[in-house]
Amino acid sequence: MSQPVINSRIIKLEPINWKELQFIQQEDFKEWLPNGDKKLIESLLKYQFADPFKVWHHNGINYCLDGRHRFLDLKSVSENGHEVPDMLPATFIDCKDMKEAAELVLVYSSAYAKITQQGLLDFVKNFDLDFPDMQAIMNIPEFDDIAFQGLLNESSGIEPGEKIIPSSLKDSFIFPPFSILDTRSGTWQERKRKWIELGFNSQETREDVELIAKSGQSSGIYELKNKMRDMLQREPTWDEIIDYAKKKGMHIYEGASIFDPVLCELSYRWFCPLGGKILDPFAGGSVRGIVAGVLGYPYAGIDLRKEQVEANRKQASILSLENVDWFTGDSNEVLNSEFPTDGFDFVYSCPPYADLEKYSDDPKDLSNMDYDQFKEVYFSIIKKAVAKLKEDRFACFVVGDVRDKNGFYYNFVSDTIQAFKDAGMELYNEIILVNVVGSLAIRVRRQFNGGRKVGKMHQNVLVFYKGDPKKIKENYPELNLGELEETLEVI
Ligand SMILES: C[S@@+](CC[C@H](N)C(=O)[O-])C[C@H]1O[C@@H](n2cnc3c(N)ncnc32)[C@H](O)[C@@H]1O
Repeated sequence: MSQPVINSRIIKLEPINWKELQFIQQEDFKEWLPNGDKKLIESLLKYQFADPFKVWHHNGINYCLDGRHRFLDLKSVSENGHEVPDMLPATFIDCKDMKEAAELVLVYSSAYAKITQQGLLDFVKNFDLDFPDMQAIMNIPEFDDIAFQGLLNESSGIEPGEKIIPSSLKDSFIFPPFSILDTRSGTWQERKRKWIELGFNSQETREDVELIAKSGQSSGIYELKNKMRDMLQREPTWDEIIDYAKKKGMHIYEGASIFDPVLCELSYRWFCPLGGKILDPFAGGSVRGIVAGVLGYPYAGIDLRKEQVEANRKQASILSLENVDWFTGDSNEVLNSEFPTDGFDFVYSCPPYADLEKYSDDPKDLSNMDYDQFKEVYFSIIKKAVAKLKEDRFACFVVGDVRDKNGFYYNFVSDTIQAFKDAGMELYNEIILVNVVGSLAIRVRRQFNGGRKVGKMHQNVLVFYKGDPKKIKENYPELNLGELEETLEVI
């Protein structure tokens, strides 16, 4: 018989005089989280001593391998007049020497798994728990306890007589419909990865990839650039980077320039009636069309660049998507009355952010215009798109402000709001989309030191409404996307 691979090192469980414990680690080995000492005392008073110390007995001394903070708090509690027994249980662990004991101090301080917010929410609900300090369980200072309590209340706050709604905001809406959407979360990134696996090839042409690389919008390309610099021991050229990426079949899409498919999915599912027709006057890559096709929304995208439209069409045909199409041309002209389809249910787009990225040399391309001219055409396109939208419907533009040559913001977000107002729509929701930090971490030092420009890591998702807001409830039924997802089995 072969030896077991894992042997027990536990010698015994026995009460010890805990006040005589000695420590291997220095005092500053761990520091309290904010208010951690007080919270641990509260926890000890409420839950009592429920976990033995772990000790290594050596030369007549009990060295504490795990339990130092409880030791500190028990001491402070007993000094403040609370009665704490002299003898408390300890698990005796077998250690060869001091070095091995020290290693075990690290072992007991390590964490290999963490509770997820959803996991915690479900667990607390299942057992109807009233745990005082959720933050301590999550073990991250930035865990937002107030937001968590909100989730908890929202999902259990069923009034008598009200029908039972799904158990969590996530089940109902995929992500909680708050004014901040954080694309940095693991669940967001995982969902994005699944969508991308479906096969987006938004930036198919070399020209596009290059454009994105040079405009510094892709975080992926910067990571690659750093790697190549190390490899070549010199600064790689953009051509070398792009060739390398292509040869290796790498997707350099993580930057701001590929439209986020998860944001797209949420926008359609939240603000477009099921199966409603979508109009996109600045289509760019294929993402918004492909997501529409997969989820069953007819989609019409317009873009000035023929090669982009062709690449998008090719992609839709690979995925056998019907009712999804792109049209080549200047939206300011295409959207005049001869445009084939009328009566759209949702206007959705991500316009050029003024001159941030140059898409082509075409003088009709908004990104080639000075800001005054840009505004004039931009306002006109928005007006024409809104005219194609049915009454009592939403529109949504994803935008981000851009600095002019002097470093001042154009105020592009406010101008977008004004353009929709002029076109007869009112601002209904503003959502801040938090982007992953990516290459900004590299760029921010220079821009902040060189001119106190903070790193912009968000975009604005502006949602407008046309018509009578009282009709929203009629046209947009309660959402239960968890269920829908099972039937669609999309991702
Ligand atoms: C922000 S980009 C979209 C690119 C982004 N990667 C995406 O997929 O969302 C805006 C698009 O507007 C297009 N565009 C610029 N001026 C236009 C115009 N006058 N009419 C139609 N499309 C235009 C550009 O070619 C570009 O593809």
